[in-house]
This record gives sequence, C-alpha cells and structure tokens, in this order.
Amino acid sequence: MKYKNEREQYEALLDVTRQLGGVHTSNELLRTIVALAKELLHADRGFALLREGTVPPVSDRGDEVKIETTGGFQREATHAMLQISGSVLRNVLDTGEPVLTIDAQSDERFGASESLVIHGIRSVACAPMKVRDRILGVLYLDWRGAEASLDQKAMEFLEALATQAAVALDNLGLAERLEAENRSLRAELGRPPELIGESPAMRCVFELMEKILPTDASVLILGESGTGKELVARALHARGPRAGRAFVAQFCGALPETLLESELFGHKKGSFTGAVFDKKGLFELADGGTFFLDEIADTSLSTQTKLLRVLEEGEFRPVGDTRTVHADVRIVAATNRDMSEALRQGQFREDLFYRLNVFTLTMPPLRDRGRDVLLIADRFVQHFTDELGLPPKDLSSDTRRLLQQYVWPGNVRELRNVIHRAVLVSETERIECRDLGLDSEKHNGRSPGEVFEDNDPPLDDLVRKIVLERLASFDGNRTKTAKSLGVSLRWLHYRLKDWNG
Ligand SMILES: Nc1ncnc2c1ncn2[C@@H]1O[C@H](COP(=O)(O)OP(=O)(O)OP(=O)(O)O)[C@@H](O)[C@H]1O
Ligand SMILES: [Mg+2]
Repeated sequence: MKYKNEREQYEALLDVTRQLGGVHTSNELLRTIVALAKELLHADRGFALLREGTVPPVSDRGDEVKIETTGGFQREATHAMLQISGSVLRNVLDTGEPVLTIDAQSDERFGASESLVIHGIRSVACAPMKVRDRILGVLYLDWRGAEASLDQKAMEFLEALATQAAVALDNLGLAERLEAENRSLRAELGRPPELIGESPAMRCVFELMEKILPTDASVLILGESGTGKELVARALHARGPRAGRAFVAQFCGALPETLLESELFGHKKGSFTGAVFDKKGLFELADGGTFFLDEIADTSLSTQTKLLRVLEEGEFRPVGDTRTVHADVRIVAATNRDMSEALRQGQFREDLFYRLNVFTLTMPPLRDRGRDVLLIADRFVQHFTDELGLPPKDLSSDTRRLLQQYVWPGNVRELRNVIHRAVLVSETERIECRDLGLDSEKHNGRSPGEVFEDNDPPLDDLVRKIVLERLASFDGNRTKTAKSLGVSLRWLHYRLKDWNG
C-alpha cells in the first residue's frame, strides 16, 4: 500500500470518486477503476467483470459476463484467468464476499494450480462491486513474482474502491437506461396516434417526423398511393408550431391550369370566363398555417414558377390581378410519381424541387412493413365494428396469414377498404379469408398455409433479415434483441459475427 495513514487513504478514495464521476459509459468506468486499483495497490494486472444485464452493454462480446481488461491483461490471458479462478470469481459474484489469497498457488480454491505457476500468479484479490444488495460484478487484481504485501487494511481499501465503482456504475446504468427510455419515449411522442406502425421502416419515418416538427422548412413526401402521405402531412401540421392555424390541402392532379391557379392564388373578377367575383386564393386563407400540395408533380411548369415565388418570397399574384399578396405558409408537398423521372423529362422545375425538398419523407409501401399490416388491420376491424355498431370481431389465423402474404398494391388505403368490406360481409365474430375477397394473384405467389416455394430465400437469409430488423428496432441493443427473439446473447453474438464475415 502506497498510503501511510488513513488521511492519505481517504484523500485517495475521494480522488477516485471524483474521477469516476467524470466518466460517461460503463466501459470507461470499468477501465478507470481497474487502472486506479492497480496503481493504488501496486498490482501487476487487473480486470473488472460485470454480471450480464447489470448495465445496458456498450459493447458486449457474447460472454455470459462482460469483462473489461486493461491493467496488463490481454484478452486471451483474461480468458485463461477465468478458467483458473473461475470458481473464485463466481463465488465472489454469488456471495458478495471478497477473497484475498497471498499464496494462490497453494490455495485449493483455485482450480489448476499449475496454471497459476505457468502464469506466474502469486497473490490474488477479488472484491465485489456491490450496491445495496445487488452484486454488479467483481474487481480482480493479481500480483506476480514476489508475494504481495497485502494486509487487511489493503483489502478494505480494495473493497471501498469496488463499492465506489459499483455506486458509479449503478448511477451510470440508470442514466444509460433512462437515456434509452427517453429516446424511445421521444420516438413514441413523434408518432401521431392515428399513424399505426412499429416496423423499422415506420420507425424511421417517425424519427424523421420528430426532426421536421419544430422547423418551418418545406417537406416533400414521397411514396406509393395509399401509403399515408396525407395523414403524415396532417400530423406534421397538427403537432407542429402552426397547429391551431389553418391546414389547407389542394389536390393538384388533373386540374386545368387556370382552375388550379385560381384555387391557389385567387382571381380578379372577369379575369377569365366564369370569374364573376373576386376570389381569395387558398394561399391567402392558409396564412400562418400549412399548405398541403397533393400530387405536386402534376402541376404545369407555369404553376410551378408561381409556387417557387411563394416559397422564395412568400408572395404571389392572384390571376388577372396587379396586386401582390403576401402569405406566410409552411409548404408540405406530396407525390406518388417518380420525381427523378419528372426532373429528367423536364416536367418538373429543378429549382422548385430543391426548394421543396428541404426534408424528404419517403413512405414505405405496406408490403415492407412486416407485422404492421396486422396491427393496422386489427385497428380497422375495431374501428369499423364500432362505427357500424356491430359486436366485436377478430381475424382468424388464416386471415392474418393471408393479410401478411398479400402484396397490397393499394397499400393502407386498400387494406382499409378490404377490412371495411370484410366487417360488413362476415357473418360470425371471426373474419375468415373468404370475407376479404382478395385477388389470389397477388399473394406473393402463395396460398395461405403453403410455406415453401422454390425461389423462397434460404432459412438463414430469413433468420438474418428478422434478426437484423429486430436489432435495428432496439437501436442495436443486443441484450434486448436476444431477449425478444428468445435466443441467447451468445447465439446472437456469433450469428452477427458470421454475417459480418
Ligand atoms: N400508418 C397508418 N395507420 C393507420 N392508417 C393509415 C396509415 N397510413 C395510412 N392510413 C390510412 O390509409 C388511407 C390512405 O392514406 P393517405 O390518404 O394519407 O394516403 P396517400 O399516400 O396520401 O395516398 P394517395 O397517394 O393515393 O393520395 C387513409 O384512410 C389513412 O387514414
Ligand atoms: Mg393523398
């Protein structure tokens, strides 16, 4: 022991507490405590070992315990050490009692004493990292060569260090857990209640919506028909700073240019046949609110030029008018057309595209949303039975399978219509496949119950897809992923290693 008196010891401990207070991750904390313990007790090597699940693993290695080396230990040596003193470490983990052995080589508690000789280990000290009644892990030190001059005081000091580390770990674990929880709560908040989805693809949408919400920037929503573009546009308005002001939507597809422009910008009486009054444009009515331009790709180049002016200068001129009108609107535009194609063919102004495209939200097709199909279907069943005043109904397991196998070319809108009809035609409390009236051509080529086709992906690809999706949905947290899949952390670890080559 480097410290001659209690005062010095006390000061050293205080310093350790201070240093531990400054670390932000459990790995960093373990590294710090090992380095400090080793230095303060003049040990040759040291490591810390955590009970699995003590803290959200920052980098787990698929081991049952998490080990932080440093202090002279190589990874292989740590594993060798686990073999040699595994039972001692396990004992400390189980009982919470420290172990000190001055002459380890003649101590029966250590498994293979010849290994201790090979590794030149003379003395060993292990202290539990304990907080309240929970043993979070073990702090291990060893001395090689000459026997360590360890006494009871030194052991108490090591125990105090381990306890400091445990308290800091516990706080950190809590902080890390809270942070993770906070992230998922925030994502939850970003999800408007009517927008159902838990798939990784939809989580990405919710996360991006969360970023867009507080801003005033234009948004371009892309995606196939019926994927929920308008629903998202409404949610962005209802939950953003302009909530409470007007939300105005204008469908721009298949409208003659003059009619569309007169809708958007208003017109002066007599400016064209049929303009018998002055008319205020929707942009003026939307002042302070959000303007949703649906099927924006279908507008003419001339209308696009006028829209660009609204976006750049916040002003426009009603049809046939000489006056300029100002409007403060947030623009959300949507289209199900391929924008890059429209740009290439010169049907859409590039400058307008870049103006609109501050944020692009791409709605995934329903067929890429996995089990969301069932979540949404269940919600629609409930919605329509309530609306029609019918007793509750549910979907048979064959029906559920069929819903998942169908390709949904019309996406959520089609699902909504299918469920609406099924609720009406089903005669019992259970909705069966025949009630869906789906086109059997579009079942991914399969009928329900049939599980294998020649061109089906091999099992390993399916497993890989499922595992990676699940991992993404837990933000890369392997412990949670393994738990939710019902596999061991070790299994998950090895599979991930295989797949990453
Ligand atoms: N994630 C979802 N959860 C629940 N309902 C949804 C979801 N997405 C879409 N819907 C519903 O599906 C229908 C179609 O959605 P919406 O009109 O927003 O699609 P769209 O992308 O604008 O379609 P289009 O391109 O044909 O205009 C609406 O009834 C909407 O409420
Ligand atoms: Mg729409």
